[in-house]
Amino acid sequence: MTESEKPKRRLRSQDWFDNPDHLDMTALYLERFMNYGTTPEELRSGKPIIGIAQSGSDINPCNRHHLELAKRVRDGIRDAGGIPIEFPSHPLFENCKRPTAALDRNLAYLGLVELLYGYPFDGVVLTTGCDKTTPSALMAASTVDLPAIVLSGGPMLDGWHDGELVGSGTVIWRSRRKYAAGEISREEFLERALDSAPSPGHCNTMGTASTMNAIAEALGMSLTGCAAIPAAYRERGQMAYRTGKRAVELVLEDIRPSDILTRDAFLNAIRVNSAIGGSTNAQPHLMAMAKHAGVELLPEDWQVHGYDIPLLANVQPAGAYLGERFHRAGGVPAIMWELMQAEKLDANCRTVTGRTMAENLEGREATDREVIKPYHEPMRERAGFVVLKGNLFDFAIMKTSVISEGFRLRYLQEKGREGIFEGRAIVFDGSEDYHKRINDPALEIDEDCVLVIRGAGPLGWPGSAEVVNMQPPDHLIKRGILSLPTIGDGRQSGTADSPSILNASPESAAGGGLAWVRTGDVIRIDLNQGRCDMLVGDEEIARRKAEGIPPVPKDATPWQRLYRQTVTQLADGATIKNAEDFRQISKTPPRH
Ligand code: FES
Ligand code: MG
Repeated sequence: MTESEKPKRRLRSQDWFDNPDHLDMTALYLERFMNYGTTPEELRSGKPIIGIAQSGSDINPCNRHHLELAKRVRDGIRDAGGIPIEFPSHPLFENCKRPTAALDRNLAYLGLVELLYGYPFDGVVLTTGCDKTTPSALMAASTVDLPAIVLSGGPMLDGWHDGELVGSGTVIWRSRRKYAAGEISREEFLERALDSAPSPGHCNTMGTASTMNAIAEALGMSLTGCAAIPAAYRERGQMAYRTGKRAVELVLEDIRPSDILTRDAFLNAIRVNSAIGGSTNAQPHLMAMAKHAGVELLPEDWQVHGYDIPLLANVQPAGAYLGERFHRAGGVPAIMWELMQAEKLDANCRTVTGRTMAENLEGREATDREVIKPYHEPMRERAGFVVLKGNLFDFAIMKTSVISEGFRLRYLQEKGREGIFEGRAIVFDGSEDYHKRINDPALEIDEDCVLVIRGAGPLGWPGSAEVVNMQPPDHLIKRGILSLPTIGDGRQSGTADSPSILNASPESAAGGGLAWVRTGDVIRIDLNQGRCDMLVGDEEIARRKAEGIPPVPKDATPWQRLYRQTVTQLADGATIKNAEDFRQISKTPPRH
């Protein structure tokens, strides 16, 4: 680092390593970093100290290659005149943590806040990938407000089985229908799933992982093109190097998350989510990130700003292709380029590149129109989330980009009443109840039923589970009815292709309307009015309230108890209550 490149202001880390007012403490801090060969000269050189928040480990296989990528991040940090210090963040592995990784998003957030606040970092590289690693890292970066940049790990290579593209998660939902219909064996089911995962990386569909990394890029928090590069491509290591370099420059230029994460940036993210056919999990995560960024985001913003945006990405589950082809077609910048040309993007937003989004997107037009469609010739018009309310909940969303033609014709255009549907409720208390009874002939489930699941929200599960995409009973699947309308206070996997009504808030366990619905009630869904109601009189609802809320499982761990005591509803991001009071805390250094 030349004299002219040195920071103009005193760095935060100097309060630890070069503090004349606390010589004893400076000596103590310096002394312990020596034991793996770091020199006092380095730590006292005034070079930015850049944390690498390492999200990869053996229990987060989706992010595990970050252990290798971090070496290229370190190279970049060193070449730009910084000092890297890598540390582990709480692992978040989506598909294996029971009862759900959703419990751990706020725990990982808390852990990262403490690390970034309490140790001598001037900036941080956030390594992300698997679903909740991205929102938890960005939530913490906002609270602390150190210069921060996201490095996605990238998706796996495309999965193939018998000449067919098989995508993460989506293959499971599709195969379980084939299995129920008697079309494939148990072995075939497993082989299809295993073939969907051919390399390191996160889910190769536009599930929650690819969605959240696309959103990080859309917000301006990663380098241009970072999100979609497959984990195994050479460009991924090159992106790691450039990200490390840029992290140092961010400190020198003093660009912080609070400079980038504006309301306009969040609205851009909502629009990008519609255009990519992104995960319904983006709704609580984006809300949580906005709260910690101190940005007002309204639950209805998804409908107001996102619904009219067309689906442009032909990627599973809403489309046909997977991560490699999406990347080669131009990835997230090509999607944003389309939105920018259609004037559906605030392109003046600042980004971690130091330039505006418009400058980043120059020359980023799509190169493969089979995969990324022009704005005016999309896969589907109006492909964002519908926001619903009624006497069953104050807020829920429905992802319209995955509504199949068959579902649309059967449920939403019947009898000339486009967008309106009535059905008989079949109510399940949690997924065990669903699995036990879905094929019970006594329920007489037919195509005029609505499947309801409750006890699946942040308090009820606890943590909010991805269980709302309930499959119809086997006898209906054998007749070709592959999905029924479903409603729940839980979530569904971003890889699911079900047009469910989900994230219902307040949840049943918090006394929301779902607690009072009974099997046999008629539910009316009106997408035009944004309503979802049980056709049950107020007096009868009042009578049912006296019966009490359906039971939920006891706390099984200390954190579950703390989580339940502190968590908000999905409409509000399922954040820690009042944690948004803590903002830009790196301005006040911790006491010695
Ligand atoms: Fe980790 Fe999908 S399970 S990215
Ligand atoms: Mg998930």
